[in-house]
Amino acid sequence: MESLEKEALLAQDYLSRISEEAERKFDEYLPSPKDRPCRLHEAMRYSMFAGGKRLRPALVKASFDLFKGKGESVYLAMSALEMLHTFSLIHDDLPCVDNDDYRRGKLTSHKQFGEATAVMAGDALCVLAFELMGKTGNAKAIEVLAHLLGTFGMIGGEMTDIECEGKPVDLEIVDYIHYHKTAALIEAALKVGALLAGASDKEIEAIQNYGRAIGLAFQIVDDILDIVSTTEELGKDAGSDIEKGKATYPSILGLEKSRTRAMELYEESIKALDALEMDTGILRSIAAFIITRVK
Ligand code: IPE
Ligand code: IPE
Ligand code: MG
Ligand code: MG
Ligand code: MG
Repeated sequence: MESLEKEALLAQDYLSRISEEAERKFDEYLPSPKDRPCRLHEAMRYSMFAGGKRLRPALVKASFDLFKGKGESVYLAMSALEMLHTFSLIHDDLPCVDNDDYRRGKLTSHKQFGEATAVMAGDALCVLAFELMGKTGNAKAIEVLAHLLGTFGMIGGEMTDIECEGKPVDLEIVDYIHYHKTAALIEAALKVGALLAGASDKEIEAIQNYGRAIGLAFQIVDDILDIVSTTEELGKDAGSDIEKGKATYPSILGLEKSRTRAMELYEESIKALDALEMDTGILRSIAAFIITRVK
């Protein structure tokens, strides 16, 4: 086995362990489909429990534990991050955005429930995420999360992604899109975990540098998988980027150079961790998982 794939095994175990723990919390925090509006609550749960790697909750937990965080606030933040990510996926799949039919191996929210319900399920997950974050009582963590989610973060990236569809773009713009639409929420997961644990400014800077590097690598790999994998394997519509003329890494650099860039970012992420004195084994393994993943 390739050494990076071996390195990623620890992360795979960690992700499946964290998924079980996190999913119990999602069930606790999500409203019951028996309560009104029943169909909306059902739609929120449908997308949250459709599967997914649960990478963002795992990053919250890994960062919180790395900086010796104590208490239950981490579970609120892990759930909030997965709700925000799921909100971004539901809206990303809408006919007016990427117009995709499959997500996490199931029909997309708008295909299953209709567009109005899908829009509101996304909105409701976003709002519930901040209600949970409010319960942590950590104003700085809430501010950082909102900033990285908003127009200077994920939403800014999604907007530019749509504006650039079918247009000639350069690497500078693709970097902007990818850092914002994807790396920002990955960085946010790590920073929120660190802030809840009471990490120092220097520690937060190191974890942020790691997050930006793995976050960009994550989206480059997503672009590559869209080309080389299948809908069945990915659980979402493969080939969707070329069909829509999306601004992606392979569309500019080709597959091979995109792979090389992802590898450079892996190296950068490992270097960023050198600034930390504690045992960063799990974060190293997660970085290896991100660049070797097949879905
Ligand atoms: C998909 O994210 C959207 C991107 C940011 C590329 P993931 O690949 O983490 O999706 P799930 O959570 O595993 O379904
Ligand atoms: C989306 O990027 C990132 C989000 C903020 C959801 P993509 O549009 O490439 O994500 P997928 O491929 O649909 O998961
Ligand atoms: Mg998209
Ligand atoms: Mg998409
Ligand atoms: Mg994609």
